Amino acid sequence: MTQKYRITLLPGDGIGPEIISVAVDILQAAASKFDLEWEFQEGLIGGAAIDETGKPLPSETLDLCRHSDAVMLAAIGGPAWDGLPGHRRPEAGLLGLRSGLELFANLRPATLLPQLANASPLKREIVSGVDIMVVRELTGGVYFGEPKGIFQTETGEKRGVNTMAYTASEIDRIAKVALEIAQKRQGRLCSVDKANVLSVSQLWRDRVEKIAQDYPDITLSHLYVDNAAMQLVRAPKQFDTIVTGNLFGDILSDIAAMLTGSIGMLPSASLGESKPGVFEPVHGSAPDIAGQDQANPLAQVLSAAMMLRYGLDQPQAASQIEQAVTQVLDAGYRTGDIMSEGMQQLGCKAMGEKLLEALAQQ
Ligand code: IPM
Ligand code: MG
Repeated sequence: MTQKYRITLLPGDGIGPEIISVAVDILQAAASKFDLEWEFQEGLIGGAAIDETGKPLPSETLDLCRHSDAVMLAAIGGPAWDGLPGHRRPEAGLLGLRSGLELFANLRPATLLPQLANASPLKREIVSGVDIMVVRELTGGVYFGEPKGIFQTETGEKRGVNTMAYTASEIDRIAKVALEIAQKRQGRLCSVDKANVLSVSQLWRDRVEKIAQDYPDITLSHLYVDNAAMQLVRAPKQFDTIVTGNLFGDILSDIAAMLTGSIGMLPSASLGESKPGVFEPVHGSAPDIAGQDQANPLAQVLSAAMMLRYGLDQPQAASQIEQAVTQVLDAGYRTGDIMSEGMQQLGCKAMGEKLLEALAQQ
């Protein structure tokens, strides 16, 4: 029987519309192969939403997302909106989407594709074979803790405040997600905190230890975040799955992404207790190349694959899309950002066409 899914597309800003249209074509092609049916609906977010409605996340968009099986987001932001105050910036739309849909678990894989090993700024022997999954807590910690704001002290001086806070239950649920992901990977989980200084991290460490007792098959380790940052660059292959809070995860996932040297290739998934999840590339909106048919659509396409695997439980369709990506890279096709000598450079649309051909052959 045909399986129907309603998907909300949020193209956002910059290269967003170009790359999401490639991913939609791939999903359509996968649909006919796997007896799926898509109902796509489109919403405004980020700068595009600010321009039309004055708000980075109009309530209509959040409603559309809530009434769908999954959300595919491209990218938000750009210089046009950089001057706006915090709560009206495009980024506020993204944060509102995460909290509005209670997407507490952010999965950021950083896998070094052998075809792109030369793209990494690190030595080949350090990075070859790197395959890390960063599980970042996404709706708590210092990003959302209260109090927050810029206040006046008694002497009339301004004082900026954010609060890093986690409840035990917030830690427990992200720990479970990470432990379950580690079970499907190599069975090693490294929890990253700052427990030598921060109370919130002491609780984090205690709870992760406690929850991990139910997962005797997982080897759990702990690192302080400064050391983890260093180890990620020094010897990244020691890591399998990493679990950490919102801010540390923001920083460490950028480091992990850079190990692969090709941020234009990395997808991500943000999941809650129930549907819908949000699936988006790790990279930004690249306003400098927007509308020029130069963008790399592969992270968006791999995000669509993550949507099929983690959001819709269609792992076979996900694998075929991932194999199609591998096949075009093996065939030597590259977009500008991952171009190297001897390869054939393609624009965004042409890359999409090569992917469709490769998917048809799976
Ligand atoms: C990310 C980004 C966001 C974050 C910004 C754009 C709000 O850096 O997804 O990593 O800090 O979470
Ligand atoms: Mg970030």
